[in-house]
Amino acid sequence: MFIESPRYTERFGSVRINHLQRVISLDSGLKSTLPDHGAMGVMKVNEDVIKYYEERMAIIISIKDEKLKLFEGVVSGVPHDCLIIVVSNSQREKVDRFRMEKDALEQLCRYTLRQALIVHQKDVVMTEAIVQAGFTDLLDEKGQIHDGKSEGMMLGLLIAKAVGKEYVGFIDADNYFPGAVLEYVRNYAAGFSMARSPYSMVRILWHYKPKISRGLFFQKWGRVSETTNKHMNNLISIKTGFESEIIKTGNAGEHAMSIRLAEILTYASGYAVEPQELVSIFEGFGGILPTTNRKAMEDGIDVFQIETRNPHLHEEKGDEHIKEMLKVGLSTIYYSALCNNEIKQAVIAELIAQGALQEGERLPPLRTIAPFKKANFNKFMSIMEKKLDKYSVLAKTIK
Ligand code: GDD
Repeated sequence: MFIESPRYTERFGSVRINHLQRVISLDSGLKSTLPDHGAMGVMKVNEDVIKYYEERMAIIISIKDEKLKLFEGVVSGVPHDCLIIVVSNSQREKVDRFRMEKDALEQLCRYTLRQALIVHQKDVVMTEAIVQAGFTDLLDEKGQIHDGKSEGMMLGLLIAKAVGKEYVGFIDADNYFPGAVLEYVRNYAAGFSMARSPYSMVRILWHYKPKISRGLFFQKWGRVSETTNKHMNNLISIKTGFESEIIKTGNAGEHAMSIRLAEILTYASGYAVEPQELVSIFEGFGGILPTTNRKAMEDGIDVFQIETRNPHLHEEKGDEHIKEMLKVGLSTIYYSALCNNEIKQAVIAELIAQGALQEGERLPPLRTIAPFKKANFNKFMSIMEKKLDKYSVLAKTIK
């Protein structure tokens, strides 16, 4: 593919946040060449480089009661060399939707002889492994894995690490365009290929997010992302003293990380997960607060933001859903140790103005999930090792 070179990087302590890079062309051919690297502000990411990263990457699809046809489309868009890991929190009673997802995945994988894993969020073996390993932040009051997209992503991360993957990419299950899914993963690979540090993250910005209102309108920014980006940038600006617009992907549901980075971050529950990843990076490696990981501090954290060619069309889940997402997203900023009073007040005022919080109402505390590095991964493995094949759709060992 052809992509804009990383032209400008803002530094926040050890964090290198790259300005938005646009995909110029989805394919760059086998034989094409460009003048000296970066001379035209465009670089070529070769197909073999993309494949190198895809082979080392697990794609985690979190799903809860989505239309089966959409899920099938998403699966079919994931490049063949990636390992697919589906974490489902879909209903099992009345209609066993999890069973249906499993069957659909199995069928797609059988025809193409590709490997995939699927696990239910309330799986008892997985829960036991999590309890034994001390990943207690993932549990609810009944001792089950907590509901939520973030918690599903965490299970996927653990499985990806267990099977030895080096990178993880997240894709929502309600995407209408398989071609967009294919592009997200290729963009993840392109981002990783530019990283200087083993601790890297790639976040996707959609070219457009079309809305249907008296015809198709290709809207650029969603309400949630625009607001989160603004306050996230303020969080950086108050510390550096320079106003910034660097963050364009505060809520990016589609994003990817090296496992090395993924296992040292503090996460947040539910839909707060994506903004919290950035907040955790700023807190841990921004040079303002003490770091908990010297090695990562020395190597630095590379954050890439890539704008797709494909538009993003997904299931719309209504106004209340949007308000909730806004509220939990902004609470990551509000409760950050980097946040000052001025930003806190701005966050509250924003939430009230957008009808996501009532006048005088307190912003609910953020539920965080401690970094996996702190738990006993060997214990997790000792329970999971012999069981992993149980989650595989093709009955053979995963690698
Ligand atoms: N495993 C699991 N468990 N998956 C879940 C759960 C759960 O409890 N809840 C939701 N999901 C799945 C959904 O089925 C979907 O595939 C994905 O997580 C995203 O959830 P949506 O409810 O569709 O979120 P959204 O489309 O409104 O928002 C997405 O985009 C935002 C950025 O605009 C999400 O990815 C957000 O996290 C993101 O910030």
